[in-house]
Amino acid sequence: MKVLVLGGGGREHAIAWSLRRSPSVHEIVVAPGNPGCAEVATCFRPASNKPQDLLALANRIRPDLTIVGPEAPLVDGVVDLFRSNGYVIFGPTQAAAQLEGSKIFSKDFMARHGIPTARYAVAHSEQEAKIKLDEFSYPIVVKADGLAAGKGVVISEDRANALTILHSMASGNLVGAAGRNIVMEEFLTGEEVSFIGLCDGDKVLPLEPSQDHKTIFDDDRGPNTGGMGAYSDSRLLTQAERDDVVRTVMQPVLDGMKAEGAPFVGFLYAGLMLTPGGVKVLEFNVRLGDPETQALLHRMDCDFGLLVHAAATGKLHPGLLKFREDPSICVVLAAHGYPGTVRTGDPISGLAEASETGAVVFHAGTRTGVHGVETSGGRVLGVTHSGATLQQAIANAYAACDKIHFDGMQIRRDIGRKGLKRWL
Ligand code: AMP
Ligand code: GLY
Repeated sequence: MKVLVLGGGGREHAIAWSLRRSPSVHEIVVAPGNPGCAEVATCFRPASNKPQDLLALANRIRPDLTIVGPEAPLVDGVVDLFRSNGYVIFGPTQAAAQLEGSKIFSKDFMARHGIPTARYAVAHSEQEAKIKLDEFSYPIVVKADGLAAGKGVVISEDRANALTILHSMASGNLVGAAGRNIVMEEFLTGEEVSFIGLCDGDKVLPLEPSQDHKTIFDDDRGPNTGGMGAYSDSRLLTQAERDDVVRTVMQPVLDGMKAEGAPFVGFLYAGLMLTPGGVKVLEFNVRLGDPETQALLHRMDCDFGLLVHAAATGKLHPGLLKFREDPSICVVLAAHGYPGTVRTGDPISGLAEASETGAVVFHAGTRTGVHGVETSGGRVLGVTHSGATLQQAIANAYAACDKIHFDGMQIRRDIGRKGLKRWL
């Protein structure tokens, strides 16, 4: 198969790397890709990320399968356009992508179908939000309705702060138009687990569980980021817990979306909170997580291209999916200033030395400058490894990280540590 991957971050490098190891795949094109993707695939830069320009690229490449990495083209309707032009593409339609594209749609959908989630209220103006604020105690979680690249969720400790947040969100200052409509919800406590399944519209095939680390600093301190590292370990959820998530969350989503006329095909990512009162959904994403994918695909031991093609054509079956038992971990190296204003252009050294340790260094925010590879975005690299034990996987990944340097490099030193504590 010839496979086209849309996107250019660490997740897409990991997808391309997995396709390279897939016997069913003979050619991989990533658009736009990055210098890491270019090591395992051909990279093409589309005129823009809009569906029409992506289709124009597909018409040149003629892929047998297209895999969509990020959410924006999905919400913009790339799947609808590709399908209507006869292409096999894996991802939800524009209507189904609302599960991520609109927090209001997602919360109301969960309410309609009895899917466990935090109690919430919706507001379409600052005035309405202020009134509904009194239905909650503190801390309260305030979410922008639209896509906000990880910046649309704010936790407020008191009423004064909540009012400030509501104002900056509703006025458009915080995350632009995405914040015009607002969801407020009760604050949940517990451990977060990322639960991702391949969906073919009717059935779901769950991947192994993983755990992200959202804040910039160790011990879950500081502002939220897109994710500073993730690990995947089978022990994150027992088989009974996984069955429970499929029964109470994943299958109801599939059945509900189908009943509402928007069957869900694609990767369905449920961000779960394991609360004292049971599993609750924090959010849905309609794509693979980043950096969860880097850790997950490192553990995957099957033909990824074949698996995704089967899911895209309604032929999903459990025999196509296999993981190694070894836990895996991805540690993100972020640029100076991230998650605020990011400095770019810092030269990166030690990439070859890191790879020589056996780690896979997935590129995210990198580009090729006059002096070699340099930083070009917030999350720069995802250093990924596995090991016979979680402890070994962690040691392996950090040994590789220590070979890499760029000015202003930010790294969390505690990726996976929660797991170590839990399973002492
Ligand atoms: P979301 O994009 O909705 O997953 O939110 C981003 C992050 O905010 C989550 O990964 C959680 O860490 C946190 N979060 C979101 N909703 C809640 C909630 N109801 N209670 C506690 N934390 C939350
Ligand atoms: N790692 C969380 C996400 O991809 O949204």
